[in-house]
Amino acid sequence: MATIEHANVRNLSVGLLLDLLSLERDAARASSVARELVALAESQLVAGADEEAREIIQALSARASDNSPGGRACRAALERLGAPDVAKAGRSEAKFGATLRLAGRDGQVRPLIGSGIAAARQAYSEAVGTAEALWNAARAGQQPNPDAAYAVIDTLARLISEDGTSLVALTALKQYDNYTFTHMVNVSVLAMTQARSLNVGGPLLREFGLAALMHDIGKVHTPVEVLHKPDKLTKEEFDIMKRHVVDGAHILRQTPGMPALAPIVAFEHHLKQDLSGYPENIGSRTLNLCTMIVSIADVFDALRSNRPYRQGLATSRIRAIMSEQGNPQFNQVLLRRFVSLMGLFPIGALVRLNTGELAVVTAEHPSDPFHPKVKVIASAAGELVEVPLMVNTWEREGQAEHPRAVVEALDPEEVGLDPLKYL
Ligand SMILES: [Fe+2]
Repeated sequence: MATIEHANVRNLSVGLLLDLLSLERDAARASSVARELVALAESQLVAGADEEAREIIQALSARASDNSPGGRACRAALERLGAPDVAKAGRSEAKFGATLRLAGRDGQVRPLIGSGIAAARQAYSEAVGTAEALWNAARAGQQPNPDAAYAVIDTLARLISEDGTSLVALTALKQYDNYTFTHMVNVSVLAMTQARSLNVGGPLLREFGLAALMHDIGKVHTPVEVLHKPDKLTKEEFDIMKRHVVDGAHILRQTPGMPALAPIVAFEHHLKQDLSGYPENIGSRTLNLCTMIVSIADVFDALRSNRPYRQGLATSRIRAIMSEQGNPQFNQVLLRRFVSLMGLFPIGALVRLNTGELAVVTAEHPSDPFHPKVKVIASAAGELVEVPLMVNTWEREGQAEHPRAVVEALDPEEVGLDPLKYL
């Protein structure tokens, strides 16, 4: 076989890829095939198809022990998937399960760009577990443990700063069995992602994340028959539901260690830009930036999630709902930024790379929207380059991570560049 093109390899079955890997005598080609397997396993993990991902990882570990080019490529692939112990020892599947869980729990969160979806998934599921514990404590009348909350937010904030795309991808999983807790984590991730794109960082980013995580905590006092009622609420029920914003502010004000932002966001998150919404009759005030960000994340995630009474809506439909003309619910500038953040990277999109350079998306990766092909048009200093450089952000150099990765979509009007003329 002369060369294996990316696009073709994508369409081959996993079994065939593995056969190619064990037969391959050329190191570069072996690692190219291994990378395809890593990408496949990662997309399975993102989709929640653990079994399929595990099959790939198991097959990789079965071939990881010999010293052929294929064996070395398998070990590198396992490292990228956050399963280095398996890479070294070539363990059985049962042990692999334990290793995958430990990979995130040892506190060593690995660099994530393209490599750590397993680690992001681990952090995400731990965050959901902590959200449940915080919720249960508040419902039992105890104070939610802010240290546990901060520990989770620290990890999520770090992941978002390193490579938000993996975590944001995880928020798209449409699960409804533990909606309350996944929604808490999703709103936190989506709020921190927005804040990050506004250059909010450090302790303030964590405060945003924590306030977002806890924004609905007042619902612990909402009777479950109201909280989980699939039909439209009666006026009386809605009045009861509305109390969660005031209850939440009370709970969070009385929790030592909670940042002052948390009760503010809990109190304000159902107020619209014109101060309609609830709580009612609150007089004049300026909504906190964090509130505006959390409202967007909250509604977006609620519309997108599967609930017992309806399927999650498609992103395009959500966009249409959220950006209805004259909708005072959201800050329009923040909403536009959010849509461009969540719209992933369609062809023609202007994006910022992790190097600080600006680029235009010229081709989408067939199965990995986070790693498009781009044309670099401006340096990190903002100077236009004479000859635009074509970069395949899904290519990695040897065993290194993606040298260039897309960090965020930009508004061309704000930057003052017309990306379309570079296509
Ligand atoms: Fe709420």
